[in-house]
Amino acid sequence: MTTKTPPPDAFADALAAARADAEGRLSAAEDVAAVDALSHEVLGRNGSLTALLRSVGELPVEDRPAAGQAANAARVAIETAVAQRLQDLSSGELDARLAAEAVDMTAPGSSRRAGHLHPLWTVERDLREIFHGFGFEIFEGPEIETEALNFELLNIPADHPARDLWDTLYLAEAGSIEAGAPRPADDGSILRTHTSPVQIRAMRSLGAPIRVLMPGRCFRYEAVDASHGFEFFQVEGLVVDRDTSMADLKWMLEEFARAMYGEGTATRFRPGYYPFTEPSVAFDIGCLVCGGTGCPACKHSGWMTILGAGMVHPTVLRNGGFDPAEYQGYAFGMGLDRLTLLRHGIGDLRYLLGADLRFLEQFSDGR
Ligand code: DAH
Repeated sequence: MTTKTPPPDAFADALAAARADAEGRLSAAEDVAAVDALSHEVLGRNGSLTALLRSVGELPVEDRPAAGQAANAARVAIETAVAQRLQDLSSGELDARLAAEAVDMTAPGSSRRAGHLHPLWTVERDLREIFHGFGFEIFEGPEIETEALNFELLNIPADHPARDLWDTLYLAEAGSIEAGAPRPADDGSILRTHTSPVQIRAMRSLGAPIRVLMPGRCFRYEAVDASHGFEFFQVEGLVVDRDTSMADLKWMLEEFARAMYGEGTATRFRPGYYPFTEPSVAFDIGCLVCGGTGCPACKHSGWMTILGAGMVHPTVLRNGGFDPAEYQGYAFGMGLDRLTLLRHGIGDLRYLLGADLRFLEQFSDGR
């Protein structure tokens, strides 16, 4: 750019005008980019003020010092104004961003609803833990079982009166329902009526010594009421080894009752009958509601039956692949639903599987 050198007064005027123009436009600049552009236009290599500075050399010698000083002063003033405007703008932009993206650290959080274990599962976990302490491992069998495993192999023949105890839900033979003539499946598939068939499965697949806990869902064709469900849960135990005895069984169950219900829990054994154990017993604990003095919950006996047990019947041992001359075993089975009702003083089994959170949330147990 060639600038015709103005006379000294005119030079001062041009400086003043350039400065005023720059300052006016600076204060109107709305963002950092606009300030940068303006600064380039005025102070850059080809900027308007730069041109004026260069033209000082063309002034008469005696005017040069004053003009040079004035021009430099104008440059410094504009540079300072640019820097100031940049700072104002960028801090304003930061403030605006801070305001727009503000997070209120003091606002209360939105609470998340945490679930908890179902009371049946809490009790089952406790059982697993207690028997884990006795060296038991978990062994599970299928809910769809065969009649042979559920009955015959447990020493309950087809015409045995004990079969009446297990009102069975049969699977229908494929196509028989559609054909209008439903009949039980030819392969003997049923819904297991207890967890005892898992004893046979465990004996057949594990070698001695066996110490297993067998929890699971069972089914019976029952009219549903406060103490009967068509679907319920059992936990079965089995020990097979050389030299096991009724004394071992008694010790273990008494220890179990104390672990589950407290040190001072009273216990007793009564004679019982199950086809798959001989001898068989029923195991009672002192009533948890009245402490043994008698109340409606224990039918005024002071006792509550919590499980059935006994020495594994020799026939059952043989069916499991063991020689009863060499091995003995004991077994026990309990109703998980009943244990859960007892623990929480719940009066009706139907609540447990009702999935009503208003009910279930009362039994979080912190787990
Ligand atoms: N299976 C029996 C029932 O459903 C419970 C039972 C009793 C299991 C005695 C056992 C046992 O293992 O020894 O009523």
